[in-house]
Amino acid sequence: MKALILSGGKGTRLRPLTYTGAKQLVPVANKPILWYCIESIVAAGITDIGIIISPETGEEVKTKTGNGDRFGAKIEYILQAEPLGLAHAVKIAQPFLGDDSFIMFLGDNLIESQLEKFLANFQQKQLDALILLRQVADPTAFGVATVDESGKVLQLVEKPKNPASNLALVGVYFFKNTIHTAISQIAPSARGELEITDAIQKLIDTDKNVAASELEGWWLDTGKKDDILAANQIVLDARLKSKNLGEVDADSNISGRVEIGVGSKVTNCKIRGPVVIGENCHLEHAYIGPYTSISDRVTIIDTDIEHSVILNDTNITGIHQRIVDSVLGQRVKMQVSPKRPQALRFLVGDDSQLEIM
Ligand code: G1P
Repeated sequence: MKALILSGGKGTRLRPLTYTGAKQLVPVANKPILWYCIESIVAAGITDIGIIISPETGEEVKTKTGNGDRFGAKIEYILQAEPLGLAHAVKIAQPFLGDDSFIMFLGDNLIESQLEKFLANFQQKQLDALILLRQVADPTAFGVATVDESGKVLQLVEKPKNPASNLALVGVYFFKNTIHTAISQIAPSARGELEITDAIQKLIDTDKNVAASELEGWWLDTGKKDDILAANQIVLDARLKSKNLGEVDADSNISGRVEIGVGSKVTNCKIRGPVVIGENCHLEHAYIGPYTSISDRVTIIDTDIEHSVILNDTNITGIHQRIVDSVLGQRVKMQVSPKRPQALRFLVGDDSQLEIM
């Protein structure tokens, strides 16, 4: 059994963060989304992992994630030169996959459930494919399944305008090697991609054994800003433990679960967890409220922040207002300037969103 993680794509919905970085590396509770996928695959006993990367962000994914040692796995990177679809990714990964069965995991999906139970079901029933489904409010953004009363999958349609059910395909799939034949029998969709949904439909049409399990627990498809904030909140709630490897002075007040990384200094601050603070941060005279993740080398002075995600090397000084529901990228500088005339002055990248009152 092997695993194939998809970490390509252009991440258009997460711009501007994804102009300079892969969406799968955006941190949730200070850990790249992609790493949660790797960890759950390794926890299910699979250590032979292929990661599909794109020319735009592949190097960053590779450099940051490495050869797998840190996860107790062996990682091989496979370049998909153009975003030609999920089934195309499986096609180019065939030399890596060989005849093995495999889990395919979309690197921007986060699930609460462990994979073991689904893997056992897939193996015991000798299925050609096991898909995971979840009821959603707006199925038009997903692959959608129709399932009969016995749980048999009847039909799958990718992003239908008029969905036949509210059961969305979660980005985690289990396949036998028969998927390769199915992929060789499909044509690109209207959006020019080889769709994995069409390949699974081909398995169904050729009477192969395709089953579905409904996913329990949370599932987050981290495509947009609010998804990142929701994922951050859920993961901090579920997994954060208190740990202080930094320095907190006597004037600071810390309550709830708060993790502070090596080399970080907290002076005269109020921190109300769950909050995670990375390494070598400088926090002074600040309030950090629940569900905030602060990455490494961040400075926050004279500012209140809550329910937000702040990436590496960002500096926020003297705002004297509460920043909420915000995602700030790397190396952002936000400060109050003493210059006259009093005014707002910006240097803001493409696709940024500012809400000012
Ligand atoms: C992909 C799949 C879709 C699935 C979704 C889950 O869509 O094509 O069937 O429901 O992932 O995240 P994408 O997010 O690439 O548009």
